[in-house]
Amino acid sequence: MISIALTGIGELTTNDPELGTLRDAAVVIDQGRVAWVGPTRNAPSAQFMLPVGGAAVVPGFVDSHAHLVFAGDRAAEFAARMAGEPYTGGGIRTTVAATRAASDDVLRDTVLRLCREALWQGTTTIEIKSGYGLSVADEERSLRIAREFSEETTFLGAHVVPEGADADAYTALVCGEMLDAAAPHARWVDVFCERGAFDADRSEAVLRAGIARGLGARIHANQLGPGPGVRLAVALGAASADHCTHLSTSDIDALSTSDTVATLLPGAEFATRSPYPDARALLDAGATVALATDCNPGTSYTTSMLLCIALAVREMRMTPAEALVAATLGGAKALRRTDIGHLGIGARADLVVLDAPSSLHLAYRPGVPLVKAVVRGGELAWQR
Ligand code: NIG
Ligand code: FE
Repeated sequence: MISIALTGIGELTTNDPELGTLRDAAVVIDQGRVAWVGPTRNAPSAQFMLPVGGAAVVPGFVDSHAHLVFAGDRAAEFAARMAGEPYTGGGIRTTVAATRAASDDVLRDTVLRLCREALWQGTTTIEIKSGYGLSVADEERSLRIAREFSEETTFLGAHVVPEGADADAYTALVCGEMLDAAAPHARWVDVFCERGAFDADRSEAVLRAGIARGLGARIHANQLGPGPGVRLAVALGAASADHCTHLSTSDIDALSTSDTVATLLPGAEFATRSPYPDARALLDAGATVALATDCNPGTSYTTSMLLCIALAVREMRMTPAEALVAATLGGAKALRRTDIGHLGIGARADLVVLDAPSSLHLAYRPGVPLVKAVVRGGELAWQR
């Protein structure tokens, strides 16, 4: 693999405590890793020099929560919601029917399309969940296809109880035969812990079964109302509790004194016209916060981490710097990864060249395609 030097970086955000943020900087990449960071004038030469003309460079975005394996869309449900209908989660079954009826190739094309869309917007790592199959065969194939695109794959057989099934019998299936089929293709296990989906006991059973199979735990928690999800996540040492829209002070305390990341998904609040989570309370209490898209056809049909950053700043009172950290290092922590989310020496060389002089523009210029080039694993993955 060739070495690359990006030079003339106007502002380089490294998320590395020692390197910090540098001006007129250069990054040298070797063997797909960050090999050197410092002032452009001191940069060692590389086989391929890439002057970026004063552009800002940030670590690649880590989207730690996405549901990409599905067929069809729910545009009509969105329109009804914008006309006043509430979101209840019932539409998940519509997508399950469409997904089951789709061929492998149709599902693969959708995942590919969404992964490309995400890459063009600066995402260099994306987690992909199953959860629209809800049968042994359909969950297995969803994860098998997801694995073609990401190592961060999550078994979400416990998304909802399928039409006509008994909740206890279905939970037993998820914890048994479905987990057996899913586990070889998954790194994580997830459950939608919510009224109308899985209660605390069933959620705990699913997560414990996954953990016993060697999977890491993550959870959809406290999205539609207050509930036991966050407490369960912390008690089980889950890597992340996602949504966190309705938190009590004891939920916030529990998150801030644990290793469980609070992953906020503002695209879902935006597209369901719901109140945003209290990011300020979480950050002020010392919790680790991540931002992710929740890309799915029901509550958040966006692959844009740029949108999430803008919403987090404008609607959730995160500072632009906090939002950028949450979209990069926060996502890495939510996936328990130390090699991504920052540009310290030895990190995987995943970075975004912005069409802007500083990372402030990510929130300051919403809706604008600010991503000029994306380097992933040391290779130029996309360029405008
Ligand atoms: O994270 N809340 C559960 N799952 C998704 C929505 C799924 C859907 O509506 O299709 C979410 O918002
Ligand atoms: Fe989700």
